[in-house]
Amino acid sequence: MVKNFSRKSIAASMLMAATVMAASAFASDKTEPRSQVYKDKFKPQYASWHDTAESKDNTDLLAADPNLVVLWAGYGFAKDYNAPRGHMYAVSDVRGTLRTGAPRSNQDGPMPMACWSCKSPDVPRVIEEQGEDGYFTGKWYKGGSEITNTIGCSDCHEQGSSKLRLSRPFAERAFETIGQPFDKATRNQKQSMVCSQCHVEYYFEKVDGRKGFVKFPWDNGTSVEAMESYYDNLNFADWTHKISKTPMLKAQHPGYETWSSGVHGANNVSCVDCHMPKVTNDKGRKYTDHKVGNPFDRFEETCARCHTQSKEFMVGQYEKGKAKVKELKAAAETQLVHAHFEAGAAWQAGATEAEMKPILMDIRHAQWRWDYSIASHGVYAHNPTEALRILGTAVDKAASARIKLAQLLAAKGVAQPVAIPDISTKAKAQAVVGLDMDKLNADKEAFKKEVLPVWDAEAKKREATY
Ligand code: HEC
Ligand code: HEC
Ligand code: HEC
Ligand code: HEC
Repeated sequence: MVKNFSRKSIAASMLMAATVMAASAFASDKTEPRSQVYKDKFKPQYASWHDTAESKDNTDLLAADPNLVVLWAGYGFAKDYNAPRGHMYAVSDVRGTLRTGAPRSNQDGPMPMACWSCKSPDVPRVIEEQGEDGYFTGKWYKGGSEITNTIGCSDCHEQGSSKLRLSRPFAERAFETIGQPFDKATRNQKQSMVCSQCHVEYYFEKVDGRKGFVKFPWDNGTSVEAMESYYDNLNFADWTHKISKTPMLKAQHPGYETWSSGVHGANNVSCVDCHMPKVTNDKGRKYTDHKVGNPFDRFEETCARCHTQSKEFMVGQYEKGKAKVKELKAAAETQLVHAHFEAGAAWQAGATEAEMKPILMDIRHAQWRWDYSIASHGVYAHNPTEALRILGTAVDKAASARIKLAQLLAAKGVAQPVAIPDISTKAKAQAVVGLDMDKLNADKEAFKKEVLPVWDAEAKKREATY
């Protein structure tokens, strides 16, 4: 049951809008990357923002589901992939993951500068100083001593103000593409748009022959089919799969896309309504809780503002939806793992490019759909019915690949079923896809010991001049 929430929240919005306008008199486009300078001026906002550090669980998703290692064979995610945690960890996590490797110079890969883009208010700062061209040029190493403050005030606000902003020009352009420019958006839309600078699907576009500019693939729309056709038309691939040789797509975290096509998105219930509720402090003053995290932790100020059911009931509904999505997700993964190994066997038996092409297209589409439906994590809450629909099409496309593979393998005289090696643990699966984990881990440890302190010292010296 949904309460009639609109009247009350409109009154509250008007009150808040007055505060916003007063503060915006001091607004400026220049980016202050250091959140701690607002510690005293905006006490409750700063303190609650800092509390995102309390969400520190670093769940290893590859250990929880070793199938992922096979699905991402040949790509960085097969090395290391953890569940998201508090915003306070964004910079330390991107530094620490095996996916960014252990570079020692501006020439070393594996990652480009673009990998910093959703981690820090230093990103808009550097873009202001060097332009997007300057920012996006070079490898990830280049940003090490520049991008050091974790997600903070200036990612979402104008300098020294509570006024919301899009701090990234590529996000601004993407919203213009879908007919929703930020300056014409309602307050409610803006609340979701600030989050969607980062919680979206994106890829690294080639500009002037150089790959590495962040772009949201929204030119044809934001549905799974629209983005799939966008990538297909460009012949874009994130990587070539190590076993099946499929030109693959990696979905990032299409949270905005799945939320906006769901029931809350349709009703203008924003990310902020659930993840950053208005709360009252002990002096009776209202403020926005900046501890972005699990909305069920503040049930009274989030769900219960609009829904009459008990917390137990709502959490129960959520868990039921989650279990259903997970069931179909597992089914899609099983089909995909088999399809990759069967395609690998077909190549080994001498299959031709022409024979493999329609099969690899099915695998590409199946895995993209599987990934889109679950990569945003929150989809269980945001839009479980859309996740189930998309996973249904993923299973269908993987099955289509496997029917073609069965015929091809039979024609090549390959015995079926094709055996799947032991991938029952993360370590076994990583060995199967040819990763030397001991070396990756040792290199990373040395990088943390020898490179990170240098980056931090350089950043400290630079910030001392502000
Ligand atoms: C992830 C985006 C995000 C970050 C990071 C962020 N804010 Fe906010 N902030 C918001 C949103 C959304 C609102 C609510 C705006 C509205 O009500 O329309 C808000 C509101 C505010 C307000 C207005 C008063 C209130 O409590 O509603 C102040 C002041 C403020 N933020 C300060 C800060 C400070 C200081 C930091 C850094 C320590 C910060 N914010 C970090 C998104 C953010
Ligand atoms: C500048 C990019 C950026 C912006 C803006 C941003 N996020 Fe995030 N968000 C991230 C990253 C990166 C992580 C993962 C951090 C990690 O695991 O180290 C994350 C993590 C999260 C999590 C998981 C938190 C946890 O404790 O598990 C939630 C929920 C979330 N964001 C919601 C939001 C909402 C809602 C907004 C807007 C109010 C928002 N984010 C704005 C980049 C961003
Ligand atoms: C600002 C108001 C608002 C907030 C906050 C809110 N909801 Fe809703 N919710 C709605 C509206 C409006 C609908 C659509 C009702 C309808 O169509 O009859 C809805 C629908 C739903 C539905 C039905 C979905 C479907 O597919 O039919 C569920 C489940 C739900 N909300 C769960 C939650 C949970 C859990 C939270 C807190 C984490 C929450 N809501 C927070 C307004 C809200
Ligand atoms: C109706 C309420 C509601 C709205 C609106 C909403 N979320 Fe969520 N979101 C949730 C709930 C509930 C969860 C599950 C929390 C959990 O289990 O940790 C969640 C989970 C997430 C997660 C995953 C957190 C994790 O640790 O796995 C992210 C990221 C996220 N939401 C971002 C967003 C963004 C971005 C938007 C807007 C585009 C948004 N949410 C809109 C209720 C909402």
